[in-house]
Amino acid sequence: MTRELHLNGFLKPGGTHLAGWRHPDAVPDAGVNLRYVTELVRTLEDARFDAIFIADLIAVPDSGDEVLSRVSVVNDGFEPITLLAALAAATSRIGLIATASTSYNEPYTLARAFASLDHLSGGRAGWNVVTSLVDAEARNFGLGEHLAHADRYARAREFFEVVTGLWDSFDDDAFTIDRASGRYFEQDALHSLDHRGERFRVAGPLNIARPPQGRPVIAQAGSSEDGRALAAEIGEVIFSAARDFETSLAFTTDIKERAVRAGRDPDQVLVLPALTAFVAPSRAQAEDEHRELAALLHPRVALADLEYFLGGVDLSANDLDGPLPVLPTSNQASRSGRELIIALAAQEGLTIRQLAERVSRSEEAVVGTPTDIADHIEEWFTAGAADGFNVAFPYLPTSLTRFTSLVVPELQRRGLFRTEYRGRTLRENLGLDRPRSRYAGATQGSTSTDTTRSEHTA
Ligand SMILES: Cc1cc2nc3c(=O)[nH]c(=O)nc-3n(C[C@H](O)[C@H](O)[C@H](O)COP(=O)(O)O)c2cc1C
Repeated sequence: MTRELHLNGFLKPGGTHLAGWRHPDAVPDAGVNLRYVTELVRTLEDARFDAIFIADLIAVPDSGDEVLSRVSVVNDGFEPITLLAALAAATSRIGLIATASTSYNEPYTLARAFASLDHLSGGRAGWNVVTSLVDAEARNFGLGEHLAHADRYARAREFFEVVTGLWDSFDDDAFTIDRASGRYFEQDALHSLDHRGERFRVAGPLNIARPPQGRPVIAQAGSSEDGRALAAEIGEVIFSAARDFETSLAFTTDIKERAVRAGRDPDQVLVLPALTAFVAPSRAQAEDEHRELAALLHPRVALADLEYFLGGVDLSANDLDGPLPVLPTSNQASRSGRELIIALAAQEGLTIRQLAERVSRSEEAVVGTPTDIADHIEEWFTAGAADGFNVAFPYLPTSLTRFTSLVVPELQRRGLFRTEYRGRTLRENLGLDRPRSRYAGATQGSTSTDTTRSEHTA
């Protein structure tokens, strides 16, 4: 089968740029305006995007009131699964991927919510498995600080084992609903998980039928050693923050090699780097618009953003026109982004102020005409540096409608992107197999996960 390009919409209704809410086109209450969000998602569906993805932080960031009061994040959006449940009813084909944390949730609750979303949407759900990012999240769940990096990933693995085990509670054909005999489901088609692990004890079974997709599509975005290992083991859609072609090619190659070592088919692991596109009919217009948005970002917000990406460091005592100090090793930070930024500062000898400007200007953005953006997509896709893109829209609705009305037709004209959905479920559109139940072929009603491993691909 020919390789297909996949497009995922990284949807933040206020725009992914921190000053997106200040743009004259922006809808002031975008984050909590269901009608508006539905319109955006329907536009992406009309353009045949594979899916939308809703990111999440389970806290108001720790940025101090001066900075917080200048960004829209506090009012940035609904809880992702709740929002996607509403969007499931308002759309019919586009995939719906919600972020949910394995560090600050219980597996039974999430297994149930995602199984419900998969049923509600007719098999269009996806779960972006994250271990969360900052101390502010931990403090909302009875902890003083964020779990250490290695602990988070150990917990994530066991969490995932439990969730996928719970999804298999009922066999696919369990519900025979035989009115004549009075038997609603076949008794031997129900399996109690009886998970007894280091971090979780979960009896099961889950109180809902197996999801239409067998499992919602699993997205992951780890890029540290632990994160990549988990992505290669369980991820089917891998989001990356790779900023340039070489980094993306190396990352994609690495993830696929790891997947092969984990016994998986590398074609069942789709790597989607982020693509922030500023597109306009002319290059000059796109560049102007890129500059205009950057100019709307308050310098204090730009610095706070840098501090955040560096793992929550406080640079206020440093000379902004001096170099970035040597930063202590952190086991809490999202390591990948942090290291890329530290490397950028060192390579180009940037001051803190220059670095903050560079990070805030979304330097990784592709700025240009529809042809420029399509060239970028085609180059990365054809060379295997990407299986598609996680398209971020810096300000809305303009950067989204420009992408769907200008870039998508160009990709379609080149024969790179579909003009019709291939299937009904997100798995079908992504070309991903439907996982078999871990109990497929078994006759016993109860199997402990201590002895039964799930099949990640089947
Ligand atoms: C495109 C993209 C989106 C992400 N969205 C979220 C998110 O919504 N919530 C979250 O806690 N982490 C999110 N992350 C962070 C990743 O889950 C991961 O923690 C990060 O890439 C660092 O990798 P590591 O955990 O292996 O250190 C995202 C990362 C990327 C690249």
